[in-house]
Amino acid sequence: MDIDFDVKHGLEGVAVAISSISYIDGEKGKLVYRGFEIEDLVENSHFEETAYLIWFSSLPNENEIDFITSMLAKKRTLPKKIIEMMKSFPKNAHPMGVLRSVVSLLGMYSKKDSSTLENAINLTAKIPTIIAYWYRIKNNLPLIPPKESLKHSENFLYMMFGEIPKHSDLFDKALILHLEQGMNASTFASTVTASTLSDIYSIITTAIGTLKGPLHGGANEKVLNMFKEIKSVENVEPYIYTLISNKEKIMGFGHRIYKTYDPRAKILKHWIKDLFLKDNVEYFEIALKVEEIVIKEFKEKKIFPNVDFYSGILYNYFNIPSEFFTTIFAMARIVGWTAHAMEYRKNNRIFRPRSIYNGPKGLKYKEVKGVE
Ligand code: ACO
Repeated sequence: MDIDFDVKHGLEGVAVAISSISYIDGEKGKLVYRGFEIEDLVENSHFEETAYLIWFSSLPNENEIDFITSMLAKKRTLPKKIIEMMKSFPKNAHPMGVLRSVVSLLGMYSKKDSSTLENAINLTAKIPTIIAYWYRIKNNLPLIPPKESLKHSENFLYMMFGEIPKHSDLFDKALILHLEQGMNASTFASTVTASTLSDIYSIITTAIGTLKGPLHGGANEKVLNMFKEIKSVENVEPYIYTLISNKEKIMGFGHRIYKTYDPRAKILKHWIKDLFLKDNVEYFEIALKVEEIVIKEFKEKKIFPNVDFYSGILYNYFNIPSEFFTTIFAMARIVGWTAHAMEYRKNNRIFRPRSIYNGPKGLKYKEVKGVE
């Protein structure tokens, strides 16, 4: 065995880049984008403005906000041939699989001379259209073309449902919460792809494939499915204690960096509580009971709700089906993925870690005789 190297399982505690995009204090539960606390941004900003902040390092002035808003609005349409291809996809294909595949297809239709930033804005504009079109195709509904006059988040809800629901500002703010989160698994995977000098479509395809997993962005779908299985507050205790005694992970809890309440989950919970007092919000009481038990039982391991625990309750309020939840995450996180790819490339070096070999050595080749 090669003993000159240490294995950092899951790269825990390893820094792979220097970045000015976001800062996380996992002990205090703080998240900061380019120097601005997340609480300040969700209160006062909106998707287009915060996306500009992440990409360009400072908040936009009036001309700059007009520029980013109109770029994101004008680039929403998909090539007709891609829409035709989407219509031929199997109707039971998972939305994240569709998103990953269509982003890859778009790579073949892109202008070769576009900059990475232009491509990043272009893809960010198109992802909501891919998601909404797949929702409509899957449900045999006529497609609703994008409307340039609408904000990024409103246009998405309009393309999904033909109208903008009440409290749509909360959907916009939820996108802000998901824009960026340091060197998480999908950002790391896509930064590795960027480090090989591959194209933006390959970078984002890598990121979407990584986000899809249930230990990462795929957890939001699993959380809502868990609430559906639990059905009522009375069933929470037996359900959760069964998971605990089977040593199964409880979806929507735990985080590599946050060892306290995830600030994004705290904000989402606060919004949902407010909505719950005004309107019919499904699963909130179940969630509160699950949270109470998990925090109590895992006190020593410091396991708290993460962003995926409460986001699904909000998306469900907007009638978005649970299998589409992780695509909403991707719709926002593309901003962070592309910002990291561009930042890393300024001082690029290909990622090339190593594994420690513990297999046999010195074996001699012997021809295996086939059976005649
Ligand atoms: N339920 C029960 N136990 C848990 C949970 C959980 N959700 N999360 C961690 N633990 C336990 C582990 O079993 C482990 O216990 P042990 O030391 O006795 O073996 C200990 O806490 C440490 O957990 P790890 O899995 O080693 O922590 P890691 O940092 O590798 O993983 C992760 C973090 C993947 C988020 C993990 O907490 C998890 O699987 N959570 C559930 C899935 C989830 O919600 N993912 C979304 C994360 S947020 C995001 O990606 C957007």
